[in-house]
Amino acid sequence: MKGAPTVALLLFFLAIATSMSDYWRETVGMGQPKVSHLHFYFHEVGKGSNPTPILVAEANSTKTSPTSFGSVYVADDPLTEGPNLTSKLIGRAQGIQAACSMTEFNLIMALNFVFTDGEFNGSTLTVVGRNPILQDVREMSVVGGNGVFRLAQGYAQLRTILLATGSLTVEYNVTVIHY
Ligand SMILES: *[C@@H]1O[C@H](CO)[C@@H](O)[C@H](O)[C@H]1NC(C)=O
Ligand SMILES: *[C@@H]1O[C@H](CO)[C@@H](O)[C@H](O)[C@H]1NC(C)=O
Ligand SMILES: *[C@@H]1O[C@H](CO)[C@@H](O)[C@H](O)[C@H]1NC(C)=O
Ligand SMILES: *[C@@H]1O[C@H](CO)[C@@H](O)[C@H](O)[C@H]1NC(C)=O
Repeated sequence: MKGAPTVALLLFFLAIATSMSDYWRETVGMGQPKVSHLHFYFHEVGKGSNPTPILVAEANSTKTSPTSFGSVYVADDPLTEGPNLTSKLIGRAQGIQAACSMTEFNLIMALNFVFTDGEFNGSTLTVVGRNPILQDVREMSVVGGNGVFRLAQGYAQLRTILLATGSLTVEYNVTVIHY
């Protein structure tokens, strides 16, 4: 009888060890990291019946703010191969942009770049960063991704190449390390 609790205890720890092995697998090699460079154009179409960014929230004070401080947009913006909106669609930038500076035009961007063409079709990159839109070149962080971009890290450099009533085109160069 003296052995009984010991056996129970043993089974208990065995159960823990077994359940642990179910969710904690061996570490495996990831292969060598690759560096990919992506070059494409991002478009915001504000005019027409289907604007690609929409204002979803603002504070009362936003309307009187010189920098639109407090406005929050949700966007589903096309990404194209060339600078013209009519050039080949390669994906979309879907996410949130909010004006977050009281002293300059500056957005916090949180975007998923969803690729729908070519070797990155079906993969996404998650880009987060500061976008002081009047500066020539801005830089944001690639903080992750999925598909071929699992464990991605990198940066995006962007420059506005067209700013007209109801339309904005931004050139993106993205450098990504992935596996
Ligand atoms: C915002 O403005 C509306 C309409 O003038 C007013 O009813 C509301 O109380 C204001 N909200 C705040 C937080 O000041
Ligand atoms: C974009 O392409 C359209 C149709 O091909 C053309 O009419 C337009 O002039 C082009 N715009 C620019 C800025 O090149
Ligand atoms: C991208 O992938 C989807 C889903 O696998 C497929 O339906 C589509 O044809 C692909 N597009 C291109 C341009 O390869
Ligand atoms: C993107 O890279 C190209 C080629 O190196 C360069 O000409 C262009 O100025 C770059 N644009 C940005 C926004 O970094």
